[in-house]
Amino acid sequence: MDLTKNFYKENETDIERRPIVIENGTATTRAGFAGEEIPKVHFSTVIGKPRRTGGCMIGIGGKSSYIGEEAKKSSRISINYPVRNGIISNYTDLEQIWFDIFYNELGVDPEHHSVLFVESPFNIDSSRAQTAQIMFERFLVPNFLTKNSAFLALFSIGKKSGFVVDSGESFTSFVPIFNEKILTHNLSKVGFAGKKLNGHFSQLLTKKKRNFRLLASKESIINIKENDCYVAFDYEEEMQINSKMKFMKKFLVGNKEYSFKLGSELFEMSEVFFDPKMQKFHQSTIQKCACDIILDCEEKVQKELFSNILLIGGSSLIRGFDERLQKEICKIADDNFEVNVIAPSERKHLAWIGGSKFASIPDFEKNCISREEYLEKGEQIFYQEDY
Ligand SMILES: Nc1ncnc2c1ncn2[C@@H]1O[C@H](COP(=O)(O)OP(=O)(O)OP(=O)(O)O)[C@@H](O)[C@H]1O
Ligand SMILES: [Mg+2]
Repeated sequence: MDLTKNFYKENETDIERRPIVIENGTATTRAGFAGEEIPKVHFSTVIGKPRRTGGCMIGIGGKSSYIGEEAKKSSRISINYPVRNGIISNYTDLEQIWFDIFYNELGVDPEHHSVLFVESPFNIDSSRAQTAQIMFERFLVPNFLTKNSAFLALFSIGKKSGFVVDSGESFTSFVPIFNEKILTHNLSKVGFAGKKLNGHFSQLLTKKKRNFRLLASKESIINIKENDCYVAFDYEEEMQINSKMKFMKKFLVGNKEYSFKLGSELFEMSEVFFDPKMQKFHQSTIQKCACDIILDCEEKVQKELFSNILLIGGSSLIRGFDERLQKEICKIADDNFEVNVIAPSERKHLAWIGGSKFASIPDFEKNCISREEYLEKGEQIFYQEDY
């Protein structure tokens, strides 16, 4: 397969038949048609149900469920997160999200669309089988395929070999791929990424006694993290430069404006990735984990992996993350290796984008399990090693 080819323009099939690509991350759901350059929709993987009080359902607008950002708007709604650590934990809730994607967000009848499902590298067979069952039996999709998010991300940049570092919500994972094959014995992850960073950042702010009514608002913490935090290229140096610098941040909580000073915590937060002394999580640093895994692969593979380290996931967007990772890996790796960290600007959605590209190749459907095949062989098909 020629990975350098751009299939977008060549495969302008009728949108009414185009495959649909869905990714349900722990934090972010992405969905859209094959061939699109970015997901048509992306929203929080959250479902809200009106609370029951004294036998009455109390919600907003009289709906029985609320999906994505809408679910987070009201305290009268109880919120569920149907994906945990990248793995589906509540199928009933996720089925409602899929229903919403097909019928409301994309406005399609799934009976006419093949579905490519972007799965976590740590997905388990039973979860894959259950997803397929719902797709075939509830939504009657004609063809279904799941593909590993790391493979798809690498596919999106036209490479067959590389080392994918994905820092999203639940963990930071490391996936070596050689000649399109995932080296499954060498997969690994460390348990910190967006969610733990939120908690860690909020502790740092509390420790420094920020007047923080804001701490009541998780959204505000995430907002500062995403917009103002960064990774120091050199932590000690940054501390010296920054120790006297503070900047005021203004925030609206309800109708009231609060302001507070921010300083070194803006880069202290992300140091947990690179310095074990900064973390309470007792995990390896990401540079050590990456190097250990690469050096554990066969020698002929190592060079390729070091020179194609692909960063993906929302947490890798923290300013300076890529330069610092490059620097730290260079420190560990042998001088014979050329180290190259690739950080495409669209990396938060890169796995989905790869899925969009993969599902646009002319014989995509031949790679899928068809409904007929599923009905004949059953879900066993998803437990086979070569699936
Ligand atoms: N600019 C940014 N800077 C720092 N963090 C960011 C930025 N943008 C998004 N994030 C964080 O990225 C995380 C979500 O990333 P992503 O959407 O890749 O996760 P996910 O794919 O849903 O989760 P997972 O892969 O763990 O299942 C959130 O914690 C979010 O706050
Ligand atoms: Mg993800």
